[in-house]
Amino acid sequence: MTNVPVATLPGGEKVAALGQGTWNMGDSSRRRKEEVAALKLGFDLGMMLVDTAEMYASGGAEEVIAEAIAGRRDEIFIVSKVMPQNASRRGTIAACEKSLKRLKVDSIDLYLLHWPGSSPFSETLEGFTALTNSGKIRYWGVSNFDQREMEEVIALSGGGAVATDQVMYNLNRRGIEFSLTGWCEKHHIPIMAYSPLDQGKLLRSPAVENIADRHSATAAQVALAWVLRQTNMIVIPKAGSEAHVRENYGALKVRLDAQEMAELDRAFPPPGRKKPLEST
Ligand SMILES: NC(=O)c1ccc[n+]([C@@H]2O[C@H](COP(=O)([O-])OP(=O)(O)OC[C@H]3O[C@@H](n4cnc5c(N)ncnc54)[C@H](OP(=O)(O)O)[C@@H]3O)[C@@H](O)[C@H]2O)c1
Repeated sequence: MTNVPVATLPGGEKVAALGQGTWNMGDSSRRRKEEVAALKLGFDLGMMLVDTAEMYASGGAEEVIAEAIAGRRDEIFIVSKVMPQNASRRGTIAACEKSLKRLKVDSIDLYLLHWPGSSPFSETLEGFTALTNSGKIRYWGVSNFDQREMEEVIALSGGGAVATDQVMYNLNRRGIEFSLTGWCEKHHIPIMAYSPLDQGKLLRSPAVENIADRHSATAAQVALAWVLRQTNMIVIPKAGSEAHVRENYGALKVRLDAQEMAELDRAFPPPGRKKPLEST
């Protein structure tokens, strides 16, 4: 078995750098068994970090996770998120308590603000701090925050404890390379890359397929290997079947050489200037 690499949180804790996303899980009772089996297989293979949100299937994805982690909660690192419209001090606490019930756990390992909203982040931070003090969350972080917003976070009292910024990152969406990745690296904040397959769009790219053929790999594996090459980046593909989980895990065996990286740079050029942060 290939070992899953790790990323290090600012506090020093190591987490799996290849985890599992759950957006669109929990929507259909017909698919539930397959989704639970997919997540369980991912855990068996060492993809011990699972990402979810109160928003996904209105909490349904958290319920799928509850089923998948039954009997092994302590091995799994759970990430969930509060929606901005709930992210006042009290709203954040209430949203987290509902997530805990759906997940059937006493604490969430990492709790994120899903995207910047109209509540001042200082209020959300008060909620995160109260939740940390009561043991309901272990770490907190943000999602879809650009560098300027990250600078505002760390300038707040207690803001330096931010454990991650979860943002869209894949071959098609390289905007964060212009400055955010470097800024996070400098502050020892791991980035969590969402939509690493660009929600499936990268699987039809001739440039990616061509390299995949040379490795006897698949386009999904090459797209994931490209994101996984980054140090201290956590990658969370969503796979709704055991076959896709197995395939994504196989990305850990794919090593792209300098020539292949250059080919991918030609097909998917790195950003030449600052662009607004991309999101789904
Ligand atoms: N913070 C945010 O705002 C935010 C936004 C978007 C996503 N996220 C998180 O990031 C996770 C991943 O992003 P994502 O779901 O947007 O997109 P993604 O992981 O890039 O792509 C998921 C899609 O790719 C398919 N897929 C997965 N593995 C495959 C394989 N080996 N071969 C072929 N198809 C494959 C999946 O189909 P199947 O389901 O059939 O396997 C699904 O349709 C989400 O689930 C969520 O947890 C966060």
